[in-house]
Amino acid sequence: MSDVEIRLTVNGRSYVGRCEPRKLLVDFLREDLGLTGTHIGCEHGICGACTILVDGAAARSCLMFAVQAEGAQLVTVEGLANNGELNPLQQAFHRHHALQCGFCTPGMLIAATDFLRLNPSPTRDEIREGLSAVLCRCTGYRNIVDAVEAAAAAMRAEPP
Ligand code: FES
Ligand code: FES
Repeated sequence: MSDVEIRLTVNGRSYVGRCEPRKLLVDFLREDLGLTGTHIGCEHGICGACTILVDGAAARSCLMFAVQAEGAQLVTVEGLANNGELNPLQQAFHRHHALQCGFCTPGMLIAATDFLRLNPSPTRDEIREGLSAVLCRCTGYRNIVDAVEAAAAAMRAEPP
């Protein structure tokens, strides 16, 4: 099948590229744009490792074709830091040791970003439920919940 043109914005930068219509968005990000921070686990929507923001909302990049992101604004884990400085959520993950192997971490950070946008003052149960779509096989989740809770408090304390 012949390649088609695709235009999209990733982490504030515009890209124009070509790819096969059947190419998954996660593969386009990793192989064509070199953004390997987004991980591939199951490739069928279960694990959440491939989660990115599509027009501000969390989405599985393994369940989209790249061409479906035509014209969209995407954010991957590489886009979370501010001028090379970890954002409050990333700092909280670091401080609370919210990762072990790190495989789930990009998806977890992106899912938590969207979750905190929708619920800036979550309870611990809400955090558990809000992140339940991303699977972590190492941490037992407790430190992740601690980190998201701490990040929520830090973000609420930030000047608007
Ligand atoms: S790789 Fe997309 S949900 Fe697992
Ligand atoms: S830290 Fe290993 S899968 Fe979550």
